[in-house]
Amino acid sequence: MLNLEVMLDEEKIQSRISELAKEIDEDYNGKNIIVVCVLRGAIYFTVDLTKKMKTQTELDFVKVSSYDGTESTGRIDLKLELNENIENRDVLIVEDIIDTGYTLKFLKEYIMKKNPKSLKIAVLLDKEERRKVQIDVDYIGFKIPNKYVVGYGFDYNNTYRNLPYIANLKS
Ligand code: IMP
Ligand code: MG
Repeated sequence: MLNLEVMLDEEKIQSRISELAKEIDEDYNGKNIIVVCVLRGAIYFTVDLTKKMKTQTELDFVKVSSYDGTESTGRIDLKLELNENIENRDVLIVEDIIDTGYTLKFLKEYIMKKNPKSLKIAVLLDKEERRKVQIDVDYIGFKIPNKYVVGYGFDYNNTYRNLPYIANLKS
């Protein structure tokens, strides 16, 4: 039996995203940026964040997969490439969570090879305890303990993404 315990409710998530949007707007200060949403998990965060931002953005997507159930395999596959030319552009990666750090390390290297003018990273959640590789993240929504979460884009074998809140999945 699966059992859900709300960790971050909708209001908390949305109000923190408003704060992040304001911070991002202040930092980019009128620039035109490329937002790279990491499919599929970050789609909900990307939509809400960019709607709250005033910074002019072009939206692009990458898709990676690294997970099988609740365990990080450490293997990252790029399933969808960037569509836009990001050379000499200000790029903001928007990801749902940093856990071991393997995914963002891989994506950072992938994007840096394309010579952007700048690269920043925004994540909604940070599971600091689980880090295996050191990665600098510019914007963090919430630091959370080492618990598997679902909802607001987070899935368990591709279900639960559409919950408006983030919950701890207990078995
Ligand atoms: P990392 O490569 O270990 O940092 O993992 C990042 C990816 O793992 C994220 O993009 C998520 O898709 C997935 N992930 C990590 N923790 C969770 C979780 O608690 N729930 C759902 N997905 C997670
Ligand atoms: Mg993901």
